[in-house]
Amino acid sequence: MKERIGILTGGGDCPGLNAVIRAVVKTATKLDWETIGFLGGYEGLLDKEYIHLDYKKMDSLLNRGGTILGTSNKGRFAVKTGVGQLNQLDPNVMAASLRNFHELGLKALVCVGGDGSLTIAQQLFEGGIPLVGVPKTIDNDLEGTLLTFGFDSAVSCAMDAIDRLHTTAESHNRIMIVELMGRYAGWITLWAGVSGGADVILLPEIPFNYQSIYAQIQKREEMGKHFTIIAVSEGAREQGGSVTLAGPLEANREAKLGGIGDKIAKEITTRFGKECRVCVLGHLQRGGGPTSLDRVLCTAFGATAVNLIRDGKFGYMAAFTPSNVVGAIKIKDAVGKLRLVRPDNPMVACARAMGLSLGDEVTQEY
Ligand code: F6P
Repeated sequence: MKERIGILTGGGDCPGLNAVIRAVVKTATKLDWETIGFLGGYEGLLDKEYIHLDYKKMDSLLNRGGTILGTSNKGRFAVKTGVGQLNQLDPNVMAASLRNFHELGLKALVCVGGDGSLTIAQQLFEGGIPLVGVPKTIDNDLEGTLLTFGFDSAVSCAMDAIDRLHTTAESHNRIMIVELMGRYAGWITLWAGVSGGADVILLPEIPFNYQSIYAQIQKREEMGKHFTIIAVSEGAREQGGSVTLAGPLEANREAKLGGIGDKIAKEITTRFGKECRVCVLGHLQRGGGPTSLDRVLCTAFGATAVNLIRDGKFGYMAAFTPSNVVGAIKIKDAVGKLRLVRPDNPMVACARAMGLSLGDEVTQEY
């Protein structure tokens, strides 16, 4: 009988999940292993709901968005409720997962996910399931890897939106605010803001003040630029303030962020008499197919994950590091703390050097 591995996709979806599944199945097939895919993330492991994934089913997956396996960021495996706020898996859930893993004759599991899903993976690993990880999240906030897949595709979508906002903002001499995802990390906003040429970039890691934003608008007015593009992360906040929630907190779920764009628009209009328009990009950033960079990353990550299993390196996750384009690190070194934009990040310094505002300096009182 052939050796058999399992794969599941957990947490929020993003472009490239199918490309990883394809790479895993193709690499496993080459080793003469069979692959099954659990449906709906970890829930599929618990309910023994899975499909057989063979080479023939891998057609047209490289560029297909979403995940053919389905995913979930809530339910019986929800262990993360905020930054560093982790719960232990229910012992019954842990025991049933381990039992199903063995009953299905699996050699190992490939867990594709972000901080929450890989935290679950780490707990299952410590509970006795041999597994490896693949780092996924548009937020790019996992420690130990410079890039997670999905990030470049989200940035590309956000950059395109900023390009489009430019033409309409310029035509109407308007202040346009675009609110971007990323939760507590500002990577999407920083990269999209820089690549799209935003004039103000507001990140969760650098609390802003309204005077500073207005100073940038005024500076541009004085230079004859009567429009301003403000890119703001959903997790950004005013100095001394707190994040804006899109709804009430739910038990065992991460907070839903959203609304900071509208808040900034209201404040700018009230304080400085400037009309603003707001665009919330939302889940568009997670939809559609992966960019070329993400396709390459997904392919390399998927192949690396299978090679880690072949080499018995359980508890490891594929990672992208500058010195070692695709290597591997321990999952436990990647989860539990987020990789955030440091205020002294070179990209932040370049943005500042070019005269962009990060919303935290006041050069002149208005
Ligand atoms: O973690 C990915 C992400 O898209 C965040 O950027 C965002 O805050 C969150 O997920 C949205 O989650 P949901 O799809 O549950 O609304």
